[in-house]
Amino acid sequence: MESILDFAHRVARRALAPGDWAVDATAGNGHDTCALADAVGAEGRVWAFDVQPQALRSTRRRLDERGLGERVTLLEQGHETMQSALPPEVEGRARAVMFNLGYLPGSSNKTRTTTPDTTLPALRAAAALLAEGGAMTVVCYRGHPGGAEETQAVRRWAEALPQARFRVFEYRLLNHKNDPPRLVVVEKTAGAPKAGRLSSSPSKTRI
Ligand SMILES: C[S@@+](CC[C@H](N)C(=O)[O-])C[C@H]1O[C@@H](n2cnc3c(N)ncnc32)[C@H](O)[C@@H]1O
Repeated sequence: MESILDFAHRVARRALAPGDWAVDATAGNGHDTCALADAVGAEGRVWAFDVQPQALRSTRRRLDERGLGERVTLLEQGHETMQSALPPEVEGRARAVMFNLGYLPGSSNKTRTTTPDTTLPALRAAAALLAEGGAMTVVCYRGHPGGAEETQAVRRWAEALPQARFRVFEYRLLNHKNDPPRLVVVEKTAGAPKAGRLSSSPSKTRI
């Protein structure tokens, strides 16, 4: 079996094709942003959020090393601003949105974590941005202060999504100590009501 993070990448990649649009809600060190940028190809676009300049510098470096920088817009702002920060035509058109919650790995400041008061509005915005057939991945960590509460808040939000429009999965290790991360996957099902602000299609074959 693959790790939680590898599995999250596989879910996102499976939802994406060249030319698609995707969002990384927590850029961090850029691993997820790079995976999304690679999957959408040169004609696609990725928007990546983070509140820490250090994280965005790390993401920019990683992207540039791989020649992926041109297809990514980095936003130094909270993911809770997702809906207003992205072009209106992205609503209902993003094929993948990735969240990797918690703190920036490798940073000396582990207190700058995601928190439910901003994560939950961001999840709601992301659910509206998702295209039919699109997937959202949310990696949750319970080990840091506030992490267990945030994980519970994410789970409660996801469990309450209407089953006629979404399918929600949880992927987790059951027998490991020290609270290993958990992955929540939210898939928007085909036939879900379309968003009102649609215009041109980023991926004509899929929408
Ligand atoms: C676990 S790291 C992300 C790892 C990253 N996805 C990667 O592939 O390396 C979590 C990140 O969330 C960021 N963060 C915290 N609050 C945020 C917010 N409100 N909006 C966006 N990012 C936030 C932190 O600065 C940190 O870099």
